Amino acid sequence: QQNERDSLFIVLNYAKDYYKEILKNHDDGRSIGLSYFKERGFTDKTIDKFELGYSLDEWNAFSEIALKNAYSEDLLEKAGLLIKKDDKKYDRFRGRVIFPIHNVTGKVIAFGARTLKKDGKPKYLNSPETEVYHKSKILYGLFQAKQAIRQMDNCYLVEGYTDVISLHQSDIENVVASSGTSLTDDQIRLINRWTENITVLFDGDTAGLKAALRGVDMILEAGLNVRIVVFPAGEDPDSYSRKLGTSEFKKYLKENTRDLITFKAGLFAEEAVKDPLKKAESIKEIVGSIAKIPDPVKRAVYIKETSSLLGIDESVLLTELNKLLITGR
Ligand code: GTP
Ligand code: MN
Ligand code: MN
Ligand code: MN
Ligand code: MN
Repeated sequence: QQNERDSLFIVLNYAKDYYKEILKNHDDGRSIGLSYFKERGFTDKTIDKFELGYSLDEWNAFSEIALKNAYSEDLLEKAGLLIKKDDKKYDRFRGRVIFPIHNVTGKVIAFGARTLKKDGKPKYLNSPETEVYHKSKILYGLFQAKQAIRQMDNCYLVEGYTDVISLHQSDIENVVASSGTSLTDDQIRLINRWTENITVLFDGDTAGLKAALRGVDMILEAGLNVRIVVFPAGEDPDSYSRKLGTSEFKKYLKENTRDLITFKAGLFAEEAVKDPLKKAESIKEIVGSIAKIPDPVKRAVYIKETSSLLGIDESVLLTELNKLLITGR
């Protein structure tokens, strides 16, 4: 319903402005929220660009003002801002720094909110699915990134909000976050409106690199080119870019960007040397990825590459590939 969607956009925009105002002008906002962002190295320019905010550590600070300004309880609840439970009503976001989530046209559709307590749970509290927020169809930072993605003809994909923000501060603006969940087809198609090239930047702590790699096969299947960069253990793009500084970080990206298939081949080749029995498994894994690439010319290039990396006859790989192609992958 168009009317309800418009009302949601209006109240979400109002909430965004409220959280921004608290961050900048409220005593607690400044001493708790703003100083947190400053400690993380975020500049005023960055804070404005991403419209960051703070929610006071009170049960109804936001909803009281919103209700006074004639936003209905029902609307606040539908927007995911107010929680009603039994006879109690309280603000969803309390005592957290706020990361507004924008759609492609720049409208606020949801929020991510980080706890400031060490080991606070959940670390990030997000808006629920609403009429205007479908998590699986949104990428954090796309609104701020889309022009740069087209210009660079590449999109960096990171895990978290702060990775996106830190990369901007390192002068890298073609970056979006999947916000901790695995990428969906809708999200890949969204990126594909601006580029056919995705470079995945994994956190150094990403559980199970191989499982994560299988997840990115989806991008191959969609016909896009995938490159990857792995960070040292314990580092993510945010922490590592701050550790290295802008120019060293850019250099790291440049020197550590690997084509996905090549990277996989290298990874499995290492294992195969240690345990020859694993070699067959490796071949199946890599050829499995290659089979997902729709373009036959690209497939041929990768078969050649894998053949030399693993020291296996191209004909063997082609037989395996054709088996997969015929049986429908
Ligand atoms: P910082 O600790 O603030 O640097 O955040 P991070 O982005 O590095 O966090 P992490 O690598 O743990 O997670 C990556 C992303 O997953 C986050 O930016 C969130 O979008 C999401 N995420 C992490 N923890 C939670 C959680 O507890 N709940 C939900 N819904 N999402 C989370
Ligand atoms: Mn809908
Ligand atoms: Mn992580
Ligand atoms: Mn992280
Ligand atoms: Mn982090």
